[in-house]
Amino acid sequence: MQPHFDTATDTAATDTATDTDTAATDTATDTAADSATFWEDFYSRADPRWGTRVNVVLEGLVTAFAQTPGTALDLGCGHGGDALWLAGAGWDVTAADVAQAALDRVAESAWAASLAGRVHPVRHDLAESFPEGEFDLVSATYFQTPIEIPRTEVLRRAAHAVAPNGLLIVVEHASVPPWSWQAGQDIRFPTPEEVLASLELGAGWRVERCDAPEREATGPEGQSAMVVENVIVVRRIA
Ligand SMILES: C[S@@+](CC[C@H](N)C(=O)[O-])C[C@H]1O[C@@H](n2cnc3c(N)ncnc32)[C@H](O)[C@@H]1O
Repeated sequence: MQPHFDTATDTAATDTATDTDTAATDTATDTAADSATFWEDFYSRADPRWGTRVNVVLEGLVTAFAQTPGTALDLGCGHGGDALWLAGAGWDVTAADVAQAALDRVAESAWAASLAGRVHPVRHDLAESFPEGEFDLVSATYFQTPIEIPRTEVLRRAAHAVAPNGLLIVVEHASVPPWSWQAGQDIRFPTPEEVLASLELGAGWRVERCDAPEREATGPEGQSAMVVENVIVVRRIA
C-alpha cells in the first residue's frame, strides 16, 4: 500500500469539509479495488464542497514561480480546487482524474464560475493513459492513493509533458496528521530528495524547490495539527 492519501482539508474547503478519512476508511484496505472503483466510490460519498478550494501550497508556488499563465495540467484534480483557481488566474487547465464523479463536479463548478472555456476535465487512469500534449505547468498535489499504481512512472510521464521553461510541481503528504485513518501507523515517507531522484530528470532541468516544510493544517473537525509535505518544483530549461 502506498502511504497516506487523504488531503489535509485546509487544502480543500476547510469550512465545509467532510471527514474524508471516514469516507475512505471503509474501502482503504480493499486491495482488490482498482483506482476507478475506489475513487468513484469515494467521490460518490464525498461532500461536493470538499476540495473545491485551491491548495495553499500550490497557490504560493505558482505565484512565486509561474507568474505568466499558460497551459496547465492538474493530475488527480479531484473536485478541482486547484484547476479552478488556476483558470481564474488565466491558465488554460486540463484537469485529469480517474473519477468521473469528481470530473463532473469540476465541470459544474467551472460552468458556475464562468470558467468552462478554460477548464477541460478529462478522465484518465493515469496508470494506463496520459493527456496528450505539452504544458507550461504540470502539477500533482496529493496525487497519493491507497491503490497500488506506478506512481513514479506517472510522475516521470508528467515531467515529459512539461514544455520548455515550464514547471513540474509535486506537493505530497510526508507525514500523517492525527485525523488520518493511518494515524498511529509507522509509515516511512520518501524524502523530497528521493522523490526528485526518482524522476530521473537528467540535464536540462533546474530545481527551484526540493524540501519538506512543516505547516499548520486543519482537519475535518476543524482541529489543527502540524503536517509535513514534500515540495518539489523543477523547471525544464532545455
Ligand atoms: C488525495 S486526492 C487529491 C485530490 C486533489 N489533487 C486535492 O489536492 O484535493 C487524489 C486524487 O487522485 C486521483 N487518482 C487516484 N488514482 C488515480 C489514477 N490512477 N489516475 C488518475 N487519478 C487518480 C483520485 O481520484 C483523487 O482525486
